[in-house]
Amino acid sequence: MSLLEEIQRRRTFGIISHPDAGKTTLTEKLLLFGGAIQEAGAVKNNKIKKGATSDFMEIERQRGISVATSVLAFIYKDKKINILDTPGHKDFAEDTFRTLTAVDSVIVVIDVAKGVEPQTEKLVEVCRMRNIPMLVFINKLDREGKDAFDLLDEVEQKLGLRVTPMSFPIGMGYDFKGIYNIWEKKINLFSGDNKTTISEGIEFDDVSNPELDNVIGDEAAETLREELELVYEVYPKFDAQEYLNGTLQPVFFGSALNNFGVKELLDAFIEIAPTPQPKKAEERLVDSKEEKMTGFVFKIHANMDPKHRDRLAFVKIVSGTFKRNAPYLHVRNGKKVKFSSPNAFFAEKKEIVDESYPGDIVGLHDTGNFKIGDTLTEGEKLNFKGIPSFSPEHFRYVNNADPMKAKQLYKGLDQLMDEGVAQLFTLDMNGRRVIGTVGALQYEVIQYRLEHEYGAKCSYENLHVHKACWVEAEDEKSEEFKEFKRVKQRYLAKDKQGQLVFLADSAFTIQMTQSKFPSIKLHFVSEFK
Ligand code: G4P
Repeated sequence: MSLLEEIQRRRTFGIISHPDAGKTTLTEKLLLFGGAIQEAGAVKNNKIKKGATSDFMEIERQRGISVATSVLAFIYKDKKINILDTPGHKDFAEDTFRTLTAVDSVIVVIDVAKGVEPQTEKLVEVCRMRNIPMLVFINKLDREGKDAFDLLDEVEQKLGLRVTPMSFPIGMGYDFKGIYNIWEKKINLFSGDNKTTISEGIEFDDVSNPELDNVIGDEAAETLREELELVYEVYPKFDAQEYLNGTLQPVFFGSALNNFGVKELLDAFIEIAPTPQPKKAEERLVDSKEEKMTGFVFKIHANMDPKHRDRLAFVKIVSGTFKRNAPYLHVRNGKKVKFSSPNAFFAEKKEIVDESYPGDIVGLHDTGNFKIGDTLTEGEKLNFKGIPSFSPEHFRYVNNADPMKAKQLYKGLDQLMDEGVAQLFTLDMNGRRVIGTVGALQYEVIQYRLEHEYGAKCSYENLHVHKACWVEAEDEKSEEFKEFKRVKQRYLAKDKQGQLVFLADSAFTIQMTQSKFPSIKLHFVSEFK
């Protein structure tokens, strides 16, 4: 197969949702269709249990398991589908944001009863900012839920999306009869008693056909006709280009648990979802069809077994063919590297591969050289953009609790930060180190890993910070900037890249600072240029 054919058959995407909306169940059902797993339940163990917030050992153990399920690949109708798993736990939200830099599209799962929930809002906002094409799957139609039109309104308003229903429910909960598949003009009847049946669908080009009354009953048929009329009147028609541009989001209804509406979703997905997309590097736009290999690291996974300290760096191939044992340039440190055992991922296992193509993810064994965001090329000096850090939510000083192990502590902190576990800031004034995280859980993870992997001990001290703001000065030589640095001296720090950060103690301080120093911009993400 040519490179172009390999590219055209690939679809790399992520599923995002608020915990419990059904992401794991849907993933599993997609894998079942792809024949990649034989029974439901196989992906379940990847899920971080609810309420396990302080049980970090359990979470780390499960993170260990999730290496295998970080990328779930399968073949469906000759398309190679790569699902990039995003952790559901909110303390790992930063991980999810980074994974979203490696997907070409996204499926958003929403619970029909709960509607749009906070985590969905946050994640969709990130996708919207980057114009990532999104499909929406409204799940759990077998349960009583919100009215379909109300839900579509909610999705439009809360998520800021422009939707077009591709299917429409016939009844709901107890009265749920099935869906009308607008995309294929078919009725799919729901039978709740057999969870593995997939109804083939009865074709109904024209819902005014009286036969519809016989199939779903007079009342339901009448309601469906009225509702569909409204759908066609109110919502824009599906337009593939608008979906690809991120300006129109198709919506599907179904029940993942009952295997209902999933095949329709998958069939439409492989037809409309984008193939591996071009990606911006600081230097230029890189097209997936270019012959020369380029790729970037979006995730690093540490081995939880202390006897095997190597890490696995997840690289998304952007262009060309990645070959085993070929020399590649690790652009940041300028070194040529070869990989004798790159891993490819399948449903539940990983294995060594000779070649990978754009859209694929390869797992590279690493002894501590890689950092999130690193670029690999065949020699060109390229740096892929778009893996920003967001302001953490929690901040603590980190102290060395064992003076004999200072070196180990700093090495450990350095490597854990490269993995993206948390962010490290060094205060300008006294060189003290501050760790910023998204969730409180990470502090326990860091302490545990420092001790078990690096033999170092640390303690924490609370620090009251509202937000870390990355500082951009219009003119670094201006009096205003000098004055800003003098007044805010105690709150200034450097991040790991050496960028200047202002650790603001309240929203009010940020506001005041902005009005006092108008030529200085404060950003909540590290990548603002
Ligand atoms: P998540 O990954 O988004 O967190 O959600 P997950 O798939 O684990 O689903 C959360 C719960 O919702 C699970 O129930 C799951 O069985 C249920 N669920 C998923 N899809 C549907 C659906 O279409 N209809 C109904 N009625 N339920 C659905 P649980 O009781 O938390 O877990 P389990 O004991 O079933 O594993």
